Amino acid sequence: MFTERGRFGASAMCNWDLDRPTLQVPFQKSCSDTTTRMPKETSSAASATARRSSRAAAGVLLAAAALFAHGGNAWAEPPAPSAWSNEPIKPLPALPVLDARKVALGQQLFEDRRLSSNNAQACISCHDIHTNGATGKTKDVGPFGQPMLRNTPTIFNSALNFRQFWDGHLATQHAAISEVVQNPVVMRSTWHEVLGKLRSDHVVVDKFTAIYPDGVQQNNVMDAMATFMKTLQTPNARIDRYLAGENSALTPDERLGYQLFKSYGCVACHQGANIGGNMFQVMGVLGNRGLYFTKDGALVTDLGRYAVTKQEADKFVFRVPSLRNVAVTPPYFHDGSASTLPEAVHAMFEYQLGRKPSPQDLELIVKFLGALTGEYQGHPLKAPESR
Ligand code: HEC
Ligand code: HEC
Repeated sequence: MFTERGRFGASAMCNWDLDRPTLQVPFQKSCSDTTTRMPKETSSAASATARRSSRAAAGVLLAAAALFAHGGNAWAEPPAPSAWSNEPIKPLPALPVLDARKVALGQQLFEDRRLSSNNAQACISCHDIHTNGATGKTKDVGPFGQPMLRNTPTIFNSALNFRQFWDGHLATQHAAISEVVQNPVVMRSTWHEVLGKLRSDHVVVDKFTAIYPDGVQQNNVMDAMATFMKTLQTPNARIDRYLAGENSALTPDERLGYQLFKSYGCVACHQGANIGGNMFQVMGVLGNRGLYFTKDGALVTDLGRYAVTKQEADKFVFRVPSLRNVAVTPPYFHDGSASTLPEAVHAMFEYQLGRKPSPQDLELIVKFLGALTGEYQGHPLKAPESR
């Protein structure tokens, strides 16, 4: 969330037993139990995907653990993916057929500064769809000069996440749009104010009435924007071509990196069509769970999902981020504390797996993550120039 205000009291989450010593546990059981309890308005497609991929990943994780011994680098060249039945990573789902007029209007609104109270920023100011769907900043600064509590996640593929925001406190993008507009740390506006501004613009009014008989209304603004945001998918990543059976879409090193990604257990959490975004997990599964947050003697300022649920078990719990396009979305983590991908992967080994990777394994996994970069409107996503 952005501030203490504006939570919708969501309660769906995966109740992992977080004190379990190893990762070879049925992670997925409690998650699928929970996803079936997700609020109604949650995209049923997204939750079905989450359930399916969660189950698939359980099998793969355990099979991978049985098949491979960790350490060393002597991986055999994996077979072509078509020979595998149960990949934990899925290709992006096809886009539904959408009303092109709504998409165009939604994009216009996404770029419209009048959504902020002082007309200083639009959604695109922090979610730049011309680069990586975010910015390169650790924490963005809002239209009134106020710093955000957390790193801005990419807006690309965000419609596929099972819940919205780092702490997952909202279930739908409609709800997210409404909160962002009214949130005092972001747009600091009201619907009354936004609708007033839009209704005084005849060009905008005409566009609305051509699509929606009741014209400029809150629901219609949210509908157009959410429809546009659905189109922000990034297909044609090399991993997708590989999963579709094109073995040479990944280099030999990237294929080994994918093997390692699976056998080390990264797929226990980063899985499914969005390679993440379908469960909650503690940051610091192994060892002292508060360690990551206090490692530099820092005070803990962000307890993650605990702020939403006030449950002890939710301290330091975040939604697992999607790894699609991760090579071009630095800096990393909810606080933007890791500035490079090797640094982020190293931290994952330390806090989520309780081990140290060999430099070769780390390098191969980082290379693999480079194959997760997809395309928007036919062009590969790129990192913003200013970091
Ligand atoms: C000043 C920067 C800023 C602006 C402007 C901004 N956002 Fe965001 N956005 C963020 C940050 C930071 C987060 C993460 C907040 C959190 O998780 O606590 C976020 C998260 C989101 C998410 C959740 C994505 C996910 O994967 O969970 C959506 C959806 C979103 N914003 C939509 C919008 C829309 C729509 C607008 C315009 C109305 C907008 N944002 C304007 C910074 C911004
Ligand atoms: C137990 C679950 C779990 C496992 C296992 C796991 N991760 Fe993560 N990963 C997370 C969570 C949760 C976050 C977000 C943490 C935060 O922001 O504080 C994350 C964040 C990341 C990020 C940063 C993404 C971003 O956009 O900020 C990368 C990169 C990453 N993980 C890669 C990996 C790799 C590679 C492995 C295996 C070596 C791995 N993860 C294993 C749960 C996990």
